[in-house]
Amino acid sequence: MLPDFQETGDRPLICPSLLSCDFARIADEIVVIKDEADILHCDIMDGHFVPNLTFGPPVLARIREVTDLPLDVHLMVSHPEDWVQPFAKAGADSLVFHIESTAHGHRLATQIRELRCTPGVAINPATPLEAIVEILPFVDMVLVMSVNPGFGGQRFIEEMLDKVKRLRQLSIEKGLPLHIQVDGGINERTAAEMVVAGANMLVAGNAIFAADDPAQAAAGLSASARAAYKANLDLI
Ligand code: DX5
Ligand code: ZN
Repeated sequence: MLPDFQETGDRPLICPSLLSCDFARIADEIVVIKDEADILHCDIMDGHFVPNLTFGPPVLARIREVTDLPLDVHLMVSHPEDWVQPFAKAGADSLVFHIESTAHGHRLATQIRELRCTPGVAINPATPLEAIVEILPFVDMVLVMSVNPGFGGQRFIEEMLDKVKRLRQLSIEKGLPLHIQVDGGINERTAAEMVVAGANMLVAGNAIFAADDPAQAAAGLSASARAAYKANLDLI
């Protein structure tokens, strides 16, 4: 399980995305950034839901063995119901499915909780917030995609700032202590802007692992997010 929003809501959480690390040296890459990371973001792609492939449960199980950091599993797959159990068994702390990938989001969120993982729902840039309103009481996290899922290093879609703002407003109105995670094109500037909009979990791939000094890049992202968060605490 990931820590609750109530436990960690006083600070932003940095989630380096392993998609941009050197896959031949995953364990070493984790060691380099571990002190600056709160959660490791693991992107699972199946070549159907998104036009790319990454890795499956056996690789996640090995990652589980080399780090104590919580593992956040972003399922960019068709038929996510087939995968929650294998990834939970492999050591996932959270399982985040796309609302576009299932007709039975409520059942899936319930299954994820029964597997003792944190349930999260992800939403693509073109999907309206209305699509997830009814499932909000049943998840602990919403992942707002700020690029189209499938690849690292894409350009941030600025319009997603307003989407995050409306989602945070909704979570406050409904009294739901939700983690709002943002994923895609996050760097020092967009991290601060997303935090001001109401996000508290920042996923970053390229901005960390493509940097000359990934630890320093993660620290810079964290400092920028924290400064914005402090100025914004009364909002969330
Ligand atoms: C994209 C993935 C992201 C990806 C983000 O589909 O979900 O987690 O790693 O990469 P950057 O931070 O490079 O945009
Ligand atoms: Zn992701």
